[in-house]
Amino acid sequence: MKNRSLVSIEDFSKEEWLKILDLAEEFEKNPKQRILEGNVIATLFFEPSTRTRLSFESAASYLGAKVIGFSDASSSSVKKGESLNDTILTVSNYSDIIVMRHPREGSARYASEVSPVPIINAGDGANQHPSQTLLDLYSIRKTQGRLDNIHITFVGDLKYGRTVHSLVIALCNFNAIFHFVSPPELKLPSYVKRHIKDAKLRYYQYTDLTEAIPKTDILYMTRIQKERFSDPIEYEKVKNAYILRNSMLEEAKESMKVLHPLPRVNEITQDVDANPMAYYFQQAQNGVYVRQAILTSILGVK
Ligand code: CP
Repeated sequence: MKNRSLVSIEDFSKEEWLKILDLAEEFEKNPKQRILEGNVIATLFFEPSTRTRLSFESAASYLGAKVIGFSDASSSSVKKGESLNDTILTVSNYSDIIVMRHPREGSARYASEVSPVPIINAGDGANQHPSQTLLDLYSIRKTQGRLDNIHITFVGDLKYGRTVHSLVIALCNFNAIFHFVSPPELKLPSYVKRHIKDAKLRYYQYTDLTEAIPKTDILYMTRIQKERFSDPIEYEKVKNAYILRNSMLEEAKESMKVLHPLPRVNEITQDVDANPMAYYFQQAQNGVYVRQAILTSILGVK
């Protein structure tokens, strides 16, 4: 993985994903080791973020690396009209690795093609979010004791949800059984479904969330991505399509966990938070260990 960019989850092999998960387990036991001293990590966020940016920065800081970058492109020379090409070429002079979030699909691939240092895609529009997928795999393995043969139910915005796209593609390598719950307008894109068909796996579609819950090992809730809608009226129609309430978990398997990449808006009510099935805040914490594993693998330190 040394010196390679991580733009799509498929840029790394299944064996490499599993190495990252094993390494993340080591970091979870001992997250504060100064093995990245002398390295500089740049975080360029052209779109808002709390978890991805701060967990990458926390991961790097615990390992002794310095962090530079911006959380708002309007404070950078992008505001003056600087191109992505020029921004990346400039920042690569100041850093060993660039973590970038950008609203445009394909922007991270483009950055990786012009950059002399590795690029980690921290989300490119509605396309992919591969470091989130690795922490989701980590959270699934940690809570279920395995990655194979998981019944996973994805709920909400399956069309624009980049975390859903990357995770479905990854789970096609682990014989997952997929259940999809979404409004008709927000179904999974056909290119992602094609991965399921190519892997000869089963998937089921529902409009009623309660119908899917009893079969589920992992309930993966998602936010309706308001910022991706060109027509606000279309967003208003679907914004509260699926809301998970604690009472709806009565029929769930005891071992089921609720995941959500966060942020949530209305799709999980706060009474779910106290239920032992709620795992979304621990999932966000796992992001630090998994991102430590990603950074050290790409920098060739582990
Ligand atoms: N999961 C995730 O990408 O969260 P942020 O948008 O807060 O980074």
